[in-house]
Amino acid sequence: MRIAIVTGASSGLGEEFVKQISKYSKIDEIWVIARRKEKLENLKKILNKRIKVVALDLILQDNIEKLKWLLSNDKPNIKLLVNCAGYGIRKSFIDGTYEEELGMLDINCKSLTALTYICIPYMHKNSRIIQIASAAAFLPQPDFAIYSASKAYVLSFSRALNKELRCRKIYVTAVCPGPVDTEFFRISDAGGIMPYYKRLFLAKADRVVQKALRDSKRKKNISIYGISIQLLRLLTRFL
Ligand SMILES: NC(=O)c1ccc[n+]([C@@H]2O[C@H](COP(=O)([O-])OP(=O)(O)OC[C@H]3O[C@@H](n4cnc5c(N)ncnc54)[C@H](OP(=O)(O)O)[C@@H]3O)[C@@H](O)[C@H]2O)c1
Repeated sequence: MRIAIVTGASSGLGEEFVKQISKYSKIDEIWVIARRKEKLENLKKILNKRIKVVALDLILQDNIEKLKWLLSNDKPNIKLLVNCAGYGIRKSFIDGTYEEELGMLDINCKSLTALTYICIPYMHKNSRIIQIASAAAFLPQPDFAIYSASKAYVLSFSRALNKELRCRKIYVTAVCPGPVDTEFFRISDAGGIMPYYKRLFLAKADRVVQKALRDSKRKKNISIYGISIQLLRLLTRFL
């Protein structure tokens, strides 16, 4: 069975990926992963596609083992893996709690790496991996230090992996969005007001996902939505 796996599928970009991938005739089933089961179950109701709900906290190593077991049991043909689960907390490093700061590394880096590692054995020629990094990967950000460092990891890892997997004809695209209108800001700014400069560049999730899927199909190693974020990348390279 040809499947897509989407983490962070209960809201925002992940949910949008599931909606857009559900229109692909070459995908038989989508495995949707996040903690909020009822949100994942809802996708089953609204989409005209087989959806397998896998409600898991990806920070827990036991749950990675559960996923490993599911894969070895079903032996699917993974055509597309989208690693979207993640969060960011905007605080100075010492003001964040230990759990908040280390949790960012666990979900943004460790679980993304683990998922990639356990899925690759089930991928074949022309399978694709989409890793959600961020424009925050382009430069270090005080008061968002762990988040931007974690996304720099995702970007670097994805670009290198893309080279490594070329010989197997598996393609990796790192997606680097600027601010996107999702629940992300409710968490990152603890329900507070989003910084003014971010509101200026706020993109819609469906457009970011549309571009990411198109760029992945075209085997691009990076996907950046919006001219302002593309210019930001250029600028940070000069800086
Ligand atoms: N929005 C932006 O401005 C923006 C910009 C650049 C990059 N990004 C990146 O885009 C990705 C998606 O974020 P979003 O904007 O769509 O925000 P979001 O709506 O808050 O989505 C985050 C997703 O991650 C899941 N998640 C978080 N912790 C998890 C855990 N421990 N185990 C399993 N799932 C977990 C959440 O599901 P549950 O809560 O149900 O577990 C949710 O589905 C993130 O990696 C984020 O860093 C976002």
